[in-house]
Formats: sequence, structure tokens, C-alpha cells
Amino acid sequence: MQRYRKDFTKPTAERLAAPAGHGKSDARHSRGGSGASSSVAPPARIDGMCPSCLEHARAHTEGRLRLMYWQSARALAAAVEAKDRYARAHTATVSNYAIELGARMKLPRARLTTLRLASFLHDIGKIGVPDAILQKPGPLTAAEFDVIKRHPRWATDILQHATFFADELPIILHHHEWYDGSGYPAGLAGESIPLEARILAVADALDAMFSYRSYKAGYSVRHVRRELTQCSDRQFDPEVVSVAIEWLDTDPERFIQGNSTQ
Ligand SMILES: [Fe+2]
Ligand SMILES: [Fe+2]
Repeated sequence: MQRYRKDFTKPTAERLAAPAGHGKSDARHSRGGSGASSSVAPPARIDGMCPSCLEHARAHTEGRLRLMYWQSARALAAAVEAKDRYARAHTATVSNYAIELGARMKLPRARLTTLRLASFLHDIGKIGVPDAILQKPGPLTAAEFDVIKRHPRWATDILQHATFFADELPIILHHHEWYDGSGYPAGLAGESIPLEARILAVADALDAMFSYRSYKAGYSVRHVRRELTQCSDRQFDPEVVSVAIEWLDTDPERFIQGNSTQ
């Protein structure tokens, strides 16, 4: 197994700058992090409550908050799935790929949770893309692609109204950046792209390559491996690519293949 960068163990909130207006003191930051006790308000009256009862009440509140985050994410993802017939499988598969890649890169549990939620929501901005473009059975024109390219910003426009998605916003915003700086929307390059966004980019591409579309067959593992290698250090972080290729080589049956190409 290859060695990875040291900063993977830092909490997401430290490494990823949240957009202005998304304070870190809200309940959203209780998720699995060290700030749990400070971010969930204790009961107003604690006289007479034993420490274990207080702990139970706090755990109960956190559990309800976590459930609320996931239900909110699921509802938002369902909005895109209603528009795009490919979106449902895409969201679930990209999320699974991203979590596996993140786990193989030894991301801490709290960052994996953030990555999973971001993966669920990464294409939520496509709700603003006209159906005629989203469901077009064939290659897009340059003008149509310009509309598609707005979806990461539209996603953050939507999600910024829910402060508990603050950690996911940079990942979602930058999931189409390229490692060489030629992606969108900001043209970030290298490690200035959040690590989770670099992982999500590879997970997104894996599903796009393996999936059947009206204009293409699903690629074979060998074809995907070749594409990833060619795009390493250009579109994708080479370390994420190396983890993905190791996974492809050791567990090729894991990937759902459509009509194979060579
Ligand atoms: Fe996207
Ligand atoms: Fe996607």
C-alpha cells in the first residue's frame, strides 16, 4: 500500500474553509467530531440529573440531529433524482465509491461521514439545469455544457441556506476541479482543491465510466484503468488514482459493468 500525505488526519473543519456566513458553532458540527459536547445544548434544567442521564440525553439529541441531516440530504437528493433518471443510481454508487476510496486513504471517520453526505448532494445543483439539457440523449453543445458547469455553484446557492451543510459545501463546490487547474468552477489546482473533492472527482468518474448511457456503453475494468492512468496528474490527483487502480486490480468484481469496451 502506498504512503499518503500527513494532513489526512486533520479534521475537515480545519482544512476546508467554509463559505462566509457559515459559523462553526452551530449544531451541525456535533457530527462525530470532538466539538460534540459544546455544540449540542444541554437541557435547560440539570438539577438532580445524574451524569449518565445527562450523557444519555446528549446522545439522544445527537442521534436525532444526525438523523435530521441524513433525512434532509435524502430529500434534497430525491429532488434531482425526480428530474434525472440516471441520478438515483449515480448518487448511491458515487457515494459508495467515495467512501471506499476515502477509507483506503485512511480518512478519519468524521471526514468519511462528511464525504458521504457531500457525495449524496454533489449534483443537487442539477435541479437548476433544464430537462432538455439534462436528459439530452447525446453529446452536449458548448452552450449546453456551459449551463451544466453552473451546477456546483447552484448547489452551494441552495445548500448555504442550511448551515449544518457547511463542511460539505467546499467538497460539492469543487468536485469538478481538475488537478492541473483546468476544471471548474474556480480553476483550483493540486492540493488547493479539498482532498475530499479530489476523491469525489474520481468516484464520480468511476461511475460515469462504468455506467451505460444512451450514447455510450459501460467501460470494462481494463478500459477504466487505462482512462484513470491517462488522466492522472491532469484531471485527477495521482494519489487518489493510485488508490483507485489498486482497488480495481484487487477487487474488479466490485464494479458493475455494462457492455464492455476494450
Ligand atoms: Fe457534478
Ligand atoms: Fe456526479
